[in-house]
Amino acid sequence: MCKFTGFMKDNAPMNRAQVIALDHAHVWHPYTAMGAWRESGSTLVIREADGSWLTDADGKRYLDANSSWWTMSLGHRHPRLLRAAADQLRQLDHVAFAGITHEPAARLAEELCELAPAGLTRVFFVDNGSTAIEFALKTCLEYFQRIGDAQRTGFLTFDGAFHGDTAGATSLGGVESFVAAFASITFPCTRLPCPWREDEALAALARELHANGPRIAAVFLEPMLQGAAGMKMQSASFLRAVRELTEAHGVLLVLDEVFAGYGRTGTFWACDKAGVVPDLLCTAKAFAQFIPMGAVLVHERIFAPFAAPEASALPYGHTFNGNPFAAAIAREVLAIYRDENIVARVAKDADLFASCAARLAAIPGVLRTRSLGFVVAADLADPSGSEGYGGTIGWRVFAEALKRGIFLRPLGNTVYACPPLNTGASDVTFLFEAMEESVQSALTSSRG
Ligand SMILES: Cc1ncc(COP(=O)(O)O)c(C=O)c1O
Repeated sequence: MCKFTGFMKDNAPMNRAQVIALDHAHVWHPYTAMGAWRESGSTLVIREADGSWLTDADGKRYLDANSSWWTMSLGHRHPRLLRAAADQLRQLDHVAFAGITHEPAARLAEELCELAPAGLTRVFFVDNGSTAIEFALKTCLEYFQRIGDAQRTGFLTFDGAFHGDTAGATSLGGVESFVAAFASITFPCTRLPCPWREDEALAALARELHANGPRIAAVFLEPMLQGAAGMKMQSASFLRAVRELTEAHGVLLVLDEVFAGYGRTGTFWACDKAGVVPDLLCTAKAFAQFIPMGAVLVHERIFAPFAAPEASALPYGHTFNGNPFAAAIAREVLAIYRDENIVARVAKDADLFASCAARLAAIPGVLRTRSLGFVVAADLADPSGSEGYGGTIGWRVFAEALKRGIFLRPLGNTVYACPPLNTGASDVTFLFEAMEESVQSALTSSRG
């Protein structure tokens, strides 16, 4: 019996209820408690998007204060990206990247190296943030094996760290609720205190390096800004101190700029704020906006043992590494950053985010607030007393924000906004007013 019988009954546009019925019958969503979500009746069906705005199946608009999981730093459907995508597809869609190259990837690599911290002159293309981390883990291990220092197999990470959901990246994770179930398939890492407790984290790092330095391969860190931990920020001096300590002990520093890079913090790379050069720098998300692609920028010194004529291949790669379509889009992303002065605009408008943090801090029930570049966050008192991801107050704010035309997905009881970096000033003002009202309203009703 042919499986295609009855398949694709028709292609007429569906209404909201029809989409939900099919979805709830067949789809499994990421980070979604499927049973509760299906019962909640609050399914958002997005039909289209433009700039900083999403439009649902009923025509209601929402400002995308989440940049669609922190990717759309240039907003949705930027006309130049649509053109770049169409142009590239007319020429070359996909080709394997092992032992083959093409102009979009070669040019993109050159452009990235020009923007990279000095010394990062080699680019390995990956599919997303998690595979950037997997590549970095394996490269650190193999690097030390190849230079005859094979006892360096340990990895240091921090409480609150989030580096992705593949098994290697999960091993580095410091958000307990994301890692606890997977202990049997992850490898042990030494977890240091959260970087926002800077003195404690640095003291622990120094102790660990002193005790075990010769057995440690690398420290992994989200520089300046831990995203999934609840938008927890560090100072530039913390990052400089981590670099000094790792260098002193011959330990590699891998910076995960999957979220913090591409202007989010007000400099192109977050590590630019500290003038720090890592050994490997991971980037993804905003890198190619709506197409899964990322890269790891590697110091030439780390690449050297892989480059000798007699050196064997690093046994690592994914089917879509270096995909020309994604590379053409990623190149155009960089050109737009240059032509539209995106990073300078973030640095200029960061004050608006700081003012929003100050106003949120004055609302009763707001425990603490913070901002950096185009990110503002507030930790709220949860009626259950629960901290972090266990709380429900963030979801009450989410519901209030939806009513006001804002998509404001929380991280537990932390609510935050990180809209596209080219969101206009009047939309930013609208966002902050609605966010403040939503927080106020959710906290008031949670007390009553
Ligand atoms: C800092 C950081 N690293 C890595 C990842 C994993 O990226 P991806 O979801 O593209 O695999 C994320 C995802 O949110 C992240 O925030």
